[in-house]
Amino acid sequence: MKKIVILASGNGTNAQAIIDHFASSKLVTVSLILSNKPQAYVLERGTKAGISVMSFNRFAFAKAEHVQRLLNQEQPDLIVLAGFLWKIPSFLIQDHPNKIINIHPALLPNYGGKGMYGMNVHRAIIENKETESGISIHYVTENYDEGAIIKQATCSIAKTDTAEDLAAKIHLLEQEYFATTIEELLS
Ligand code: GAR
Repeated sequence: MKKIVILASGNGTNAQAIIDHFASSKLVTVSLILSNKPQAYVLERGTKAGISVMSFNRFAFAKAEHVQRLLNQEQPDLIVLAGFLWKIPSFLIQDHPNKIINIHPALLPNYGGKGMYGMNVHRAIIENKETESGISIHYVTENYDEGAIIKQATCSIAKTDTAEDLAAKIHLLEQEYFATTIEELLS
């Protein structure tokens, strides 16, 4: 059985889609969900699905070896960042080469980098009157949003679209492509 560990900071709609996609799989399982926020709804989603969940603070993540040890014990085949907003320390990237992936709600290399997450991305895109956006699934490196692209999918933006309208379109793309791309990577 291949193991996925999910790291998420918030609501966890992407995590939920991954949980649902692999719920009856005999090949892939979501073994652990970690969050930097103890109140994040994603932890409740994990618990409801019978998955082990844990939250951690910045010290446990970036300085002490708590999260590092946990991940080394778990030996995941893939670590999936699903709306996880902290930078991944280089020692974790070195421990899990080519095994950490992220989903970004824009067409990288545009609209990535520090501070570019969630609605901030959609607002910037609407303000700049872009006619297209999309999602990027990519490997994680030491710099925000710079690793090799695994998959991109696009949507068009109407002149009348608000940032919320764009967020809804991106949400649909995420639901359509994230879990299936993970499945392709693991098969
Ligand atoms: C998603 O749209 C994801 O692409 C984005 O955060 C949202 C999390 O939603 N990630 C980033 O902006 C990373 N830079 P969710 O908690 O409902 O899955």
